[in-house]
Amino acid sequence: MSSSSFSTILRSRTWSDHADSEGAGFMADLMEGNGSRDDYVALVAQHYFIYEALESVQAFQRDSEVAAGFITDDLTRLPALEADLQFLIGDDWREQISPMPSTVRYVERINEVGATWSGGFIAHHYTRYLGDLSGGQMIYKVMQRTFGFETDGIRFYLFDGISDARAFKVTYRDRLDAINWSEDERDRIIDEVTRAYRFNTELFNDLAEAKARAVA
Ligand code: HEM
Repeated sequence: MSSSSFSTILRSRTWSDHADSEGAGFMADLMEGNGSRDDYVALVAQHYFIYEALESVQAFQRDSEVAAGFITDDLTRLPALEADLQFLIGDDWREQISPMPSTVRYVERINEVGATWSGGFIAHHYTRYLGDLSGGQMIYKVMQRTFGFETDGIRFYLFDGISDARAFKVTYRDRLDAINWSEDERDRIIDEVTRAYRFNTELFNDLAEAKARAVA
């Protein structure tokens, strides 16, 4: 990764969008130990819909040589989310959860680009999975401490097949840098990552509003 590599430019041009997501009140409260177990569960439920989309469009994207290089079962999160929800809210978890408006929009976008544009799919793949392997590992420790989880309820953050997240991220960035995208396509992908961060920020805002309504 050199200072002008695509992965470096991507990170620097989207880092303020990352800060917006990271700093959203709902997430910040959870990280400061001011969120409830229900808040955490509400977030896990939304992740379920997001990863259901991300991991089902992989079926199309495996046919794209460029996208196929990023897809690995070691990242797959849906079974972990299902197990977490079953542990957290019971066997009828699927009947208990529904997507928030921002999640519906996020899922629509993942489905749209997932069916038509490998660069856009990679933008969404990068935003979620590299995030889960980065800040996600910090979130994991805080949720574990706050709510007394061991592994049940928090399997989403445990990547059994990835023993060294740092090394995995280096390889991932090298892969991004090795693709011969045009400048124009790189710009489009950066814009799509910004869009992905915004969906995540909007989700935190939706969750905060729903919480405020429930309390009122
Ligand atoms: C509590 C919330 C969060 C914290 C504390 C956090 C923290 C971090 C940290 C420390 C890194 C740098 C890791 C490194 O240099 O290897 C990072 C990277 C990243 N985070 Fe977050 N993050 C949070 C939320 C999010 C969210 C909501 C998303 C998007 C869904 C996200 C996506 C990413 C991505 C894609 C990267 C990799 C950037 C790159 O190196 O190219 N993060 N995060």
